[in-house]
Amino acid sequence: MRLLFVCLGNICRSPAAETVLRELLDREGLSSSSTVDSAGTTGYHIGEEPDPRMRQELAQRGYKQWSRARLVEAKDFYDFDIILAMDQQNMRELRRLCPKPELLSKLRLACSFCSRHHDSEVPDPYYGSKSDFAYVVTLVEDISEGIIQNLKQKTLLT
Ligand code: 4NP
Repeated sequence: MRLLFVCLGNICRSPAAETVLRELLDREGLSSSSTVDSAGTTGYHIGEEPDPRMRQELAQRGYKQWSRARLVEAKDFYDFDIILAMDQQNMRELRRLCPKPELLSKLRLACSFCSRHHDSEVPDPYYGSKSDFAYVVTLVEDISEGIIQNLKQKTLLT
């Protein structure tokens, strides 16, 4: 299973989701059968590490590795099985970028995998406070656990 998380800048929400899901897959012994990546719909932060506030929140919870920002591209629709948008704005950008109508079915809102939260979107924390960053990590933990459950039950994409 190849999963791609997408947000606006690829320095807050989607790299956090990538980091958390990778760690949980590792703990479950599922990392060799999955690929996890993240990307942004804008290129302002290409090559950067996640925002320092997000790195601090991740490190506090024991997540110590993260990737650098990149731009999402049409090719990703062929390279990944499922593309998870953090909010509706990201979803609209992804629909626009999608190279073939039949590949639109790869798109999902990340929050559709939440079981403990009722949010429909992962809120953008960039102009927010420390607690907004903490909430993003809490949500992506819920999302990642939901994805793991789906992978174990082999219901993802069915
Ligand atoms: P992200 O957050 O989409 O979760 O990475 C943002 C990062 C940067 C900006 C906005 C949101 N920005 O305006 O630069």
